[in-house]
Amino acid sequence: MASETRRVTVLGAGLMGHGIAQVCAQAAGYDVTLIDVKQEFLDRGMLMIRESLAKFVAKGALDKGKAEEVLSRVHPTLDLAEAVGRAQLVIEAATEDPKLKLELYRRVSEHLAPGATLASNTSSISITLLASATRSPENVAGMHFFNPPQLMPLVEVVRGAKTADSTVEVVRAAAKDMGKETVLCKKDSPGFIVNRVLVQALNEATLLVSEGVADPEDIDKAVMLGLNWPMGPLKLLDYIGLDTALGISKVFMDEFEDSKYRPSPLVKQMVRAGLLGRKSGRGFYEWGSPSSTKASSGR
Ligand code: 3HC
Repeated sequence: MASETRRVTVLGAGLMGHGIAQVCAQAAGYDVTLIDVKQEFLDRGMLMIRESLAKFVAKGALDKGKAEEVLSRVHPTLDLAEAVGRAQLVIEAATEDPKLKLELYRRVSEHLAPGATLASNTSSISITLLASATRSPENVAGMHFFNPPQLMPLVEVVRGAKTADSTVEVVRAAAKDMGKETVLCKKDSPGFIVNRVLVQALNEATLLVSEGVADPEDIDKAVMLGLNWPMGPLKLLDYIGLDTALGISKVFMDEFEDSKYRPSPLVKQMVRAGLLGRKSGRGFYEWGSPSSTKASSGR
């Protein structure tokens, strides 16, 4: 049975936000408002949704008419007050910057309808901290999707220190509407479950590059064939964004105060150089188009 959630607002039309909005409209049939701070970000988000829907149509998983219907359920806007005020569930997928997010949570809280749920797609920032910027921390939880949200079947549901049981249930039920499996993080711990495991593995892969142990292609090939990963760790880093991965490592360093989470100097350097991965056109690989992956020589 579908949950009571029907109207959802997604904050942020970027890599994760557009995909979450699409899943809300496509799999759950929700009425979705997609908000960002600039028209060009919204336009790009809507374009990414169109491109993704076209992929589903091309492989016969969705007919053209249905794709149009999905698109018509996503309403882009720049008006935060209106977008937030009408939502039963707000899913925040803004940039992973604690300062920016705290200010956003304060503003969202002013417009949130009584009893509405505010869920964060943060990959590492404390849910308890984000909730502390709102008037109703009991209505705030983590709802962590994986990239690309249209395909990845998992959502981590995260309980903050003050999250109510009913909020956990709203988020779980919404994830189920979206066709996702859920796991519950009972404690609000940095990186939750998956990123705690993943970030260490990705960091080791970058150390293998900087120590000259193997080339990126061989590291990726080894992990794909040796561990059966669908994509090697360096390609995955490009896919996630080196800046995003670096941000997560920094949160781990701060929160756990343990040097084992120190990001590799190579990743720091690449971020400084704007080699962020797929989104900037180059990282460990050259990304002429999403499916072309030639090792770059710019490391
Ligand atoms: N929308 C719709 N369909 C899509 C799509 C999208 N955005 N992206 C890819 N597809 C489809 C393609 O059309 C293709 O369909 P087909 O097999 O029927 O032809 C299929 O997915 C495979 O796509 P590609 O051939 O382009 O590329 P890949 O074979 O490399 O698959 C992938 C892409 C599904 C992303 C796969 O490589 C994969 O599972 N990679 C691992 C992803 C992963 O680990 N994600 C988690 C990252 S961690 C995270 O997000 C947490 C964060 O906090 C950091």
